Amino acid sequence: LKIEQYRPQDFTDFTRPENVEAYKVALSKVRSELLGKHYPLIIDGQERDTPQRIESLNPCDTREVVGSTAQATIQDAEDALQGAWAAWPEWKRWTMDARARVLLKAAAILKRRRLEACALMSIEVGKNYAEADVEVAEAIDFLEYYAREAMKYEGFGAAETTWYAGEENGLMYLPLGVGVSISPWNFPCAIFVGMLAAPLVVGNCVIAKPAEDSGMIAGFMVDILREAGLPAGVLQFLPGVGEEVGEYLVQHPKMRFITFTGSRGVGLHINEVAAKPKPGQRWIKRVIMELGGKDALIVDETADLDVAVTAAVQGAFGFNGQKCSAMSRLIVVDAVYDEVVSRFVERAEALKIGTGEENANVTAVVNQESFDKIASYIEIGKGEGKLLTGGELKGEQGYYVTPTIFGDVDSQARIAQEEIFGPVVTVLRARDWAHALEIANSTEYGLTGGVCSRSRERLEQARAEFEVGNLYFNRKITGAIVGVQPFGGYNMSGTDSKAGGPEYLGNFMQLKAVTERF
Ligand code: NAD
Ligand code: ALA
Repeated sequence: LKIEQYRPQDFTDFTRPENVEAYKVALSKVRSELLGKHYPLIIDGQERDTPQRIESLNPCDTREVVGSTAQATIQDAEDALQGAWAAWPEWKRWTMDARARVLLKAAAILKRRRLEACALMSIEVGKNYAEADVEVAEAIDFLEYYAREAMKYEGFGAAETTWYAGEENGLMYLPLGVGVSISPWNFPCAIFVGMLAAPLVVGNCVIAKPAEDSGMIAGFMVDILREAGLPAGVLQFLPGVGEEVGEYLVQHPKMRFITFTGSRGVGLHINEVAAKPKPGQRWIKRVIMELGGKDALIVDETADLDVAVTAAVQGAFGFNGQKCSAMSRLIVVDAVYDEVVSRFVERAEALKIGTGEENANVTAVVNQESFDKIASYIEIGKGEGKLLTGGELKGEQGYYVTPTIFGDVDSQARIAQEEIFGPVVTVLRARDWAHALEIANSTEYGLTGGVCSRSRERLEQARAEFEVGNLYFNRKITGAIVGVQPFGGYNMSGTDSKAGGPEYLGNFMQLKAVTERF
């Protein structure tokens, strides 16, 4: 590939009125051109409709049906799998360069349609302008980054081996075969596309199973990938119910690998069922999982409290706390607890609540199930801590939850241990720095974490001992950038595959060592 070095996309500056205006124009365009659109399955390059459909609702106004996708049946899943295997022998023979060009072309198309993709997410999942913009930038980055990364794996001798007299020895990377990529609704553009682009570019075929709540943006992205030149059968688009077609595919003896991003419960279930070999199965399925979090920010008495409070607000309430990386625990050292908490509460109360299209700070949560789950944790929280602000729920025409903060919660309380996945923060009081770090490490998750401190010793201790896959100092703990902060969690947060990192593509390949004695 003869192209410039990878560089992440810039974000759009929405303090500039012309950018806000352009976003509004895109919203109108999407409303007139995409609303009500139906995305069928794509199997072997052909559109296929199904008797049942999955409706996608606007979470900010549930009277509005945004559009729909097909709902795959078990037979469709079987056809997608067989078709992908049939397409594989040809696709794996393509050079890395040729496959990478498909990703680069898709990135170029997405750059041209960036605002449309953003606007669609504002309507389909309630992202405000900046959240949607950062996500589409991330999707472009995944395509651009993986296209370049693939070059490392081309040819015999791509990985280092030791010289040995009288022989030629070398390693070559080979694709695995056909896999299923099962993605969540909270990054329905970036994670959806990253999880399929990576295995594809190194020569695998992929069945992409998007989340039920965000099928339209997935369909939009699949259209772009097809326009970019993916051959028939290489990417099968299979919207459907996770417990039906997802379950069928992960259990299938002909499934070679599973890449999953979603909740801990579903992920562990998949891990378990995928581990049981089925009659006719010839391999151990490779399973890559990125799961939930209970991510903490520590603020100590040396911290710049302006920085700390801003980091807390951004990390907790960006996209309503519906990020695996969201700051759901704020751990504050006793000496500054009262000041930090009162400023945090004040900032949370100033956040504007409304729709994604209005560019509100906090919008509706994704669906009824999520709304009910958050409501039940707010009730639990009232018994486990002091409700400092929020806790109001309005679910008649959209799933609104006000930014909610519980103070003085015990570190073993349920709201301090379990992922709530909404705008609900648990604040924990630590005696001192050592206690704060101990609390931070006291959940079974280990995705993101942060420390606001001016103490070099403490930052260095956290660097070594804070058990998370992504650690941030003196800033928010969300918003990892592809290639800059490779992303993935420890412990129950996942297999630490580090999406957007230099070793990610290796997850989708196997190595062959070949020796010739001359
Ligand atoms: P989820 O686990 O409910 O669903 C994820 C996907 O799994 C969906 O496509 C769903 O249809 C499918 N699915 C459900 N049951 C299945 C089954 N039995 N077999 C196969 N597939 C099945 O998660 P969600 O609500 O869509 O997403 C939110 C969760 O994702 C949160 O826990 C969040 O922390 C996590 N997440 C993690 C990361 C990360 O990188 N670690 C990133 C984003 C989201
Ligand atoms: N990659 C996303 C973030 O860092 C989840 O917030």
